[in-house]
Amino acid sequence: MKSFKKIVALTGAGISAESGITTFRDSGGLWEQYDVMDVASIDGWRKNPQLVQRFYNDRRKQLGEVEPNSAHRILAELEKDFDVTVVTQNVDNLHERAGSTKIIHLHGELTKARSTLDPNLIIDVGYRAIEWGEKASDGSQLRPHIVWFGEAVPMIETAANVVVEADILLIIGTSLNVYPAAGLVGYANRKTPIYLIDPNEVAYMGRNITVIREKATVGMEKLREALMNDK
Ligand code: OAD
Repeated sequence: MKSFKKIVALTGAGISAESGITTFRDSGGLWEQYDVMDVASIDGWRKNPQLVQRFYNDRRKQLGEVEPNSAHRILAELEKDFDVTVVTQNVDNLHERAGSTKIIHLHGELTKARSTLDPNLIIDVGYRAIEWGEKASDGSQLRPHIVWFGEAVPMIETAANVVVEADILLIIGTSLNVYPAAGLVGYANRKTPIYLIDPNEVAYMGRNITVIREKATVGMEKLREALMNDK
């Protein structure tokens, strides 16, 4: 049996921008409209959980109204020729809906809710709101299944182990501002070629890096061509 090269794609908000989901740090991004510590930190949740709940209820509703774009789809199609793992900081489900089969969500998933007491007690909520007073089966308030600032990132070790094994590393639509996710790049082998797709400059000075300075949909077309010569 032919063995496929391993591609690991680190994705961020930029890959979903052309689907209509606002990024965080671009001009007009979400963190211009909201204080990140109010709505996306464990302290914010302790101070004003209803505000946080509303913020994620809005994000979840919006997710039900958008579709994956061709960048998500091309990444999924690469599975025909490569062993692809997506390591995403995104809490949307657009990689899943585009057909990717191996996805590690570092920062949680919008379509899930969890117990405030037990991080492993997780339920699917789809695109609906989580109501204030709605309880998990252990009697605690349900909260969004999101990893907030001030919380541990349980999937980081799994992701690091995948990056170590990568033959090719893709970085798509992330400003690489948030750790520990941004630190994953450092786990790649010295010889592993890296392709970075972003229309703006990303402060990353890596080895073996090819920068494709395009939006994700255009950049992924170009990348697919480059990769097909490197199967
Ligand atoms: P950012 O908003 O920090 O960065 C988005 C990146 O996408 C930037 O580098 C943009 O230039 C780029 N971009 C914008 N439009 C694009 C397009 N059409 N195609 C490709 N790239 C585009 O988002 P992240 O790096 O994902 O965490 O942010 C990381 C984390 O910070 C998020 O997971 C979230 C946030 O706070 C939590 O809330 C816990």
